[in-house]
Amino acid sequence: MRDYREFLKETLIDEDTLQERIAALGAEISREYQGKSLHLICILRGGVMFLTDLMRQISIPHTIDFMAISSYGAGSRRSSGQVRLTMDLKDDIGGRDVLLVEDIVDSGYTLSSILELLTLRKPASLKVCTLLDKAERREVDVPIDYCGFVIPNAFVFGYGLDLDEYYRDLPFIGIVNPERFQPPE
Ligand code: PRP
Repeated sequence: MRDYREFLKETLIDEDTLQERIAALGAEISREYQGKSLHLICILRGGVMFLTDLMRQISIPHTIDFMAISSYGAGSRRSSGQVRLTMDLKDDIGGRDVLLVEDIVDSGYTLSSILELLTLRKPASLKVCTLLDKAERREVDVPIDYCGFVIPNAFVFGYGLDLDEYYRDLPFIGIVNPERFQPPE
């Protein structure tokens, strides 16, 4: 795979801005969940960078778990509205204060399906924290309790978000240069 700079049109959110916002989110979550059994659930794979930085900014004791849902197979950008559970949680969430951690909410189909699924397991509470909200692409209404940034309808990558599965490691969010990489429809 080639150097990411070949595909980068511009930086949308730089590393310092990301980290400052994540610190603020961590502080807010720590305040609001004080005294509760905070359980963070990361939606793989895109949410993993955000989770690891966010949890280091949360000052109250908390636990983590992971799940994976597939909606966009490699090479396809649009949500089909159909999601598939590819990896379930390790632990039961009954009676726990669950906070879902996502990298991005786009059409909303993924989040909507996950919320439906997890509600059936009777958590004490179920809230959502997303780093990015591509609000103008929303097709189904979903509640977002904590949001890092509302972003425009651009094809973005880095900081957990991939470009053909690469570049998730970048510490910033970039906009893809459409002349160098055609997002598959
Ligand atoms: C991305 C992202 C969300 C979902 C949002 O995951 O992490 O889970 O798409 O899109 P939606 O709001 O239109 O449903 P993706 O399926 O690309 O998998 P990944 O996290 O493994 O890259």
